[in-house]
Amino acid sequence: MEGTPPGLRVLRLHSFPKVLLPTCTFLGNWGNNMDFARLCIGLLLLLPLAAALDFRYHHQDAMEAYLKSVAHNYSSVTHLHSIGESVKGRNLWVLVVGRFPREHRVGIPEFKYMANMHGDETVGRELMLHLIDYLVTNDGKDPEITQLINSTRIHILPSMNPDGFEAVKKPDCFYSVGRENSNYYDLNRNFPDAFEYNNVSTQPETKAVMEWLKTETFVLSANLHGGAVVASYPFDNGVPATGTLHHRSLTPDDDVFQYLAHTYASRNPNMKTGNQCKNIMNSRNGIINGYSWYPLKGGMQDYNYIWAQCFEITLELSCCKYPREEKLLFFWNDNKHSLIEYMKQVHLGVKGQVFDQNKNPLPHVIVEIQDRKHICPYRTNKFGEYYLLLLPGSYTINVTVPGHDPYLTKVIIPENSQKFSALKKDIVLPFRGQWNPVLISNPSCPTDPLYSHLSSSSPATKSSLLLFVLCLFHIFFK
Ligand SMILES: *[C@@H]1O[C@H](CO)[C@@H](O)[C@H](O)[C@H]1NC(C)=O
Ligand SMILES: *[C@@H]1O[C@H](CO)[C@@H](O)[C@H](O)[C@H]1NC(C)=O
Ligand SMILES: *[C@@H]1O[C@H](CO)[C@@H](O)[C@H](O)[C@H]1NC(C)=O
Ligand SMILES: *[C@@H]1O[C@H](CO)[C@@H](O)[C@H](O)[C@H]1NC(C)=O
Ligand SMILES: [Zn+2]
Repeated sequence: MEGTPPGLRVLRLHSFPKVLLPTCTFLGNWGNNMDFARLCIGLLLLLPLAAALDFRYHHQDAMEAYLKSVAHNYSSVTHLHSIGESVKGRNLWVLVVGRFPREHRVGIPEFKYMANMHGDETVGRELMLHLIDYLVTNDGKDPEITQLINSTRIHILPSMNPDGFEAVKKPDCFYSVGRENSNYYDLNRNFPDAFEYNNVSTQPETKAVMEWLKTETFVLSANLHGGAVVASYPFDNGVPATGTLHHRSLTPDDDVFQYLAHTYASRNPNMKTGNQCKNIMNSRNGIINGYSWYPLKGGMQDYNYIWAQCFEITLELSCCKYPREEKLLFFWNDNKHSLIEYMKQVHLGVKGQVFDQNKNPLPHVIVEIQDRKHICPYRTNKFGEYYLLLLPGSYTINVTVPGHDPYLTKVIIPENSQKFSALKKDIVLPFRGQWNPVLISNPSCPTDPLYSHLSSSSPATKSSLLLFVLCLFHIFFK
């Protein structure tokens, strides 16, 4: 299904000079107007600046150089930092884009994209660089992008597994050694698991991500993979209480997750058809519950949702894990609208701050929606803020402070919610707080399997015919 785009669908920027030079000369001569020719050629000389990023694979050095160049040229809306190092000492670069890129501001939700966790799945890595390019070059020009940057802090990690990417000697559509990190660990099996004990040694790349998650209140995220074309949503693992007896494993926020996955898939012309990539899988409209596709233990999306209060889905972007670079422009065109629209969903639902009677913001307070309890309750951050992703409807918010009765308050999320802000609802509790913010500012959630008391079964290790076939051919995706 990966065709070369029709010639004129999108003109490659760096092909402009070839077209423009003769045109400038011709028009200049024809009109006998040397000023015009000069102006025209002057504009032409400026073009390579706008065309800094091409549709080719960027190895670590080129990627670093590009990110540093963006951070330098667009310093007021970007912030480049490394969240740690790979086994071989390569930096895990994150570029932040936002009106206040260096720090969190109350009311501005944190969003993230992560890619190339499997080093041989390469499309997402390049798409992230092009997304960065698109955001910074359209800021102040395209009103929608400008508003997105004004209202959202966007974190982009183009490669979580740079060693794996560099280790691929021979690009392969199905499997290359670079899937794993340098210690041969699959990073998407390397996180603590809520459903069963995951006895693996936590890798430096995984540790870096886990530490990073503690530093921000991420609200929404997507993790970009390849080898299939589908949007997969949590859970990836499960127990009977989450629906595994029915061959699926659903979160209490399943309506929101289906909506999020659909938001992405429905704008990708290839994904929305449920492209099966030569029968790798079945999906309806290009979205699928992770567990129902195939269960896995220690995955990142479950970890984000359960431990980091961050809704994350897994996007499989290409049947071929490591396609030829001539296809990259095609993938960018197919994913651009989805990538932008998905980011806007960080503004679903309701957000606000929780205060005591003296208007002091209260950190570490549990703020949950009745009947959607999370395994680890979602809590306010150090500014007393909460963000809850919800579809339109009426809900009861349950605010719980240790030692006090739960405080319940109703909220109605309107049908036509604003595009660039969740409904704002600050909550003032009817008492005065006497908490030491230092003591309670470090939310923690047990690392033992949290659902283990519900069932003793070990779902991800259950064999199924599909899993058997997948193992046989070494073609895992997510
Ligand atoms: C940054 O600006 C320099 C000098 O104008 C230019 O050469 C370079 O291509 C720009 N880089 C990016 C990523 O925009
Ligand atoms: C974005 O923020 C800038 C600077 O704060 C402001 O001047 C501009 O009007 C805002 N634009 C939109 C579309 O919100
Ligand atoms: C975890 O793995 C280590 C090393 O393989 C082993 O010594 C230990 O007993 C295992 N622990 C559990 C709880 O399975
Ligand atoms: C509110 O949440 C607390 C704990 O977080 C729970 O004990 C209580 O039952 C909840 N109340 C309602 C009415 O849901
Ligand atoms: Zn993958």
